[in-house]
Amino acid sequence: MTTKEQIEHLRSELHRHNYKYYVLNDPEITDFEFDCIMRKLQELEAKHPEYYDSMSPTMRVGSDLSNEFVQVMHKYPMLSLGNTYSFDEVKDFYGRIQRALGGEQFELCCEIKYDGVSISLTYEEGRLVRAVTRGDGVQGDDVTANVKTINSIPLVLHGEGFPREFEIRGEILMPWEQFDRLNREREAQEEALFANPRNAASGTLKLQNSTVVASRKLDAYLYYMLGNTLPDVGHYECLQQAAKWGFKVSPAMRKCSTLDEVFEYINYWDTERKNLPVATDGIVIKVNSLSQQRMLGYTAKVPRWAIAYKFQAEKAVTRLNEITYQVGRTGAVTPVANFEPVQLSGTMVKRATLHNADFMENLDLHIGDMVFVEKGGEIIPKITAVDLTARSFMMGEKVRFITRCPECGTLLMRVEGEAAIFCPNDATCPPQIKGRIEHFISRKAMNIDGLGAETVDLLYSVGLIHNAADLYNLRIPDICRLERMGFRSAENIIRSIEHSRTVPFERVLFAIGIRFVGETVAKKLARAFETMERIENATFDELTAVDEIGEKIAQSILHFFANEECRTLVNRLKNAGLQMQIIVDDSIKYTDKLIGKNIVISGVFAQHSRNEYKAMIEQHGGTNVSSISSKTSFVLAGRDMGPAKLEKAQKLGIRIVDEDTFLKMLE
Ligand code: IVH
Repeated sequence: MTTKEQIEHLRSELHRHNYKYYVLNDPEITDFEFDCIMRKLQELEAKHPEYYDSMSPTMRVGSDLSNEFVQVMHKYPMLSLGNTYSFDEVKDFYGRIQRALGGEQFELCCEIKYDGVSISLTYEEGRLVRAVTRGDGVQGDDVTANVKTINSIPLVLHGEGFPREFEIRGEILMPWEQFDRLNREREAQEEALFANPRNAASGTLKLQNSTVVASRKLDAYLYYMLGNTLPDVGHYECLQQAAKWGFKVSPAMRKCSTLDEVFEYINYWDTERKNLPVATDGIVIKVNSLSQQRMLGYTAKVPRWAIAYKFQAEKAVTRLNEITYQVGRTGAVTPVANFEPVQLSGTMVKRATLHNADFMENLDLHIGDMVFVEKGGEIIPKITAVDLTARSFMMGEKVRFITRCPECGTLLMRVEGEAAIFCPNDATCPPQIKGRIEHFISRKAMNIDGLGAETVDLLYSVGLIHNAADLYNLRIPDICRLERMGFRSAENIIRSIEHSRTVPFERVLFAIGIRFVGETVAKKLARAFETMERIENATFDELTAVDEIGEKIAQSILHFFANEECRTLVNRLKNAGLQMQIIVDDSIKYTDKLIGKNIVISGVFAQHSRNEYKAMIEQHGGTNVSSISSKTSFVLAGRDMGPAKLEKAQKLGIRIVDEDTFLKMLE
């Protein structure tokens, strides 16, 4: 055997054993034997980089290189499903199908609804080429590097007969066992806990370091195939074939021909699901025939051929211990109920938001009350009612909203007609100050990614920053001196602050945190007035003349600029060199699609010149960099890309994007 053949043999053996272990749950060899083969392959690959293959089983261990997620358009939009909560609604769905198919016979496929993160995998020539999150349904994040660490997802397909190109969608999950382990570890390290396995899976999938992703041991079930050349069979049969190619398909799928069979399936899984190793939140019912699916089609958001039946939210009764209050960046004070910890849908809960004073008042809570806590699909549990039969005269008094800010002691206020009670001390109330700075540095605002909430907290607590403008006075030695801050992190922070000076005006306008001026309003204002100065001096009538700027927003803008401190802040930001006017060129569309991306251009292009591509990168928020490093997000490659560059990119696992794909990304 030549070395190449030997490497190929080891790879295919490992792919096969991996499938037997993670998908079929039926290992043929011991873990030790598996590790030995893996080590042998790793050694050979290290000696022979010329046989590099991004789909090698050795790639599953992840890499320490930082991932940056490129946004990719979905070829087919990722839709959601209509929800039902009762058998009557399922019956209505059944009736609708019957009518729409004009009495034609049909079969339904019932499946478990897995509660994780949806993912779309693209395979070409039997190899995984891309894994993209749902995102907004139209475009999502390319998380291929992280998905490759999931052992139950095949990198290379088995058998034959699979289409040359297809997509398969499914759910990425963190099994309960992993979830509990992860939270135990986080608790020990005093890190914030994940509320449920879905959040944990989603957080993990967005991690920058794929080695950490690999250690979290995610799993995946695939439930939907798309493509132009799918096998000419029903949905159920299609997935059974996919299982033969190596995909993990739910063993709980069942074809039903009557409504009663569907109800039987639902009843069975409503209790049996508690024994599954992963979180589920309902049943999905799909018309099985693909041609009938096509006939039924889609509404704007969901398919007409499928529906989800959601399991009832789990309820628990527990004792209310205390109400605490959180102060947000706008000063709004949110009451939070703290109760005896209870187990709910598999997780321990001890807190629930009470939203605002009215919500709290309507529940008529008394400290010591027994309260009903409920948690549906949503992350945050809520209190739905008080068990009045359990209330005794010994009970604590009725809960009343506090009158002073828990953070700074200022008398709280309520604006007529608004639900929120707020602390008016925006000048010196700490969570408001820190919250505004956190908003300023956030990704969609100034995108100062070297800084996070903890560092803001630290810098604020030692008196180095009181507002966003102070960030631009920070120097490396100031930061180095702080606890847990090395020279490199200090340098990083300063570099990302420096970099924010080029952030376009509309995002500066969003970042300064005028109430009700969100991203879209900021863009509208920037286009209409073009400079900060004109916005500062605009009258109420001028402001409301702008499309979609109503009275409330206009008042808020006037209020902001009437404030001496806000004007000083804006002035200091101006002096710090931030963009205070729009770059006008009607022919160019500005977006933030490439924010945070470091892009290398290489080769000769057909549709635009290199300089045009460079300009496009800037216009969409990206950064042009000249050489490839671990920080490179992707290489925009034309014809004749230099071989040295190509090799380096491949070695570092950096994605190569061609012209067409790049232009599609910007569409
Ligand atoms: S089918 C066009 N099947 O539920 C329909 N979805 O609420 C494609 N989900 O976004 C989806 N288990 O993330 C389908 N067996 C299953 C599912 C499932 C979980 C998720 C999926 C989807 C969401 C809709």
